[in-house]
Amino acid sequence: MSFTIAIDGPAAAGKGTISKAVAAHFGVGHLDTGLLYRAVGKRMLDGIEPIEAARALVAEDLQAEGLRTAAVAQAASKVAAIPEVRAALVDFQRAYARRAGGAVLDGRDIGTVICPEAEAKLFVTASAEVRARRRFEELRAGGAETDYDTVLADTKERDHRDASRADAPLRPAEDAVILDTSTLDIATAVAQAIAAVAAKRSDGETA
Ligand code: CDP
Repeated sequence: MSFTIAIDGPAAAGKGTISKAVAAHFGVGHLDTGLLYRAVGKRMLDGIEPIEAARALVAEDLQAEGLRTAAVAQAASKVAAIPEVRAALVDFQRAYARRAGGAVLDGRDIGTVICPEAEAKLFVTASAEVRARRRFEELRAGGAETDYDTVLADTKERDHRDASRADAPLRPAEDAVILDTSTLDIATAVAQAIAAVAAKRSDGETA
């Protein structure tokens, strides 16, 4: 049986942590789809044409070093606005979503475009200030030299680009459960996400 869990939301809302914990709890695979766009963005920074880079992408590219930097995040959101780049990445994501046993995919358009038929959909969000604070601490812990105001400006710029693009803009699916993590600690956010998915799984069993 396949059971797809779609987890969407803006940068640094907690999707990554929540997605990993949900996947571990239900014993299913997890695909961070942001890594696909980051891998293409990194290739663009290396001088490769993004559409070609997207068409040539293989699973191993997601393990590349240096995908988590702020520069690569901005490049990712630029290549993510190119329809041919998005189109080149669809089949890989859909195949992963329909794996036997189930899967969690996290991104921006999983519940709206990649898997509108997903059995469970969450939209994880938080205020821009809270998200920038988290990302700032993450980048600093990783040794990056940056300041909060720069990270906040970057976060808002990326939110705006992701939400205003014509193709697959960032928005919650109509049937998504909204989880605002602004005032939640990680354990509470994870527990609420697991409860929301568990409710959908038991719906499926009784349907
Ligand atoms: O980790 P963070 O939330 O900062 O970003 P990410 O999930 O790694 O995504 C990086 C960029 O890729 C986003 O700003 C989006 O522009 C793009 N993306 C997308 O368009 N669609 C997805 N399903 C996932 C990411």
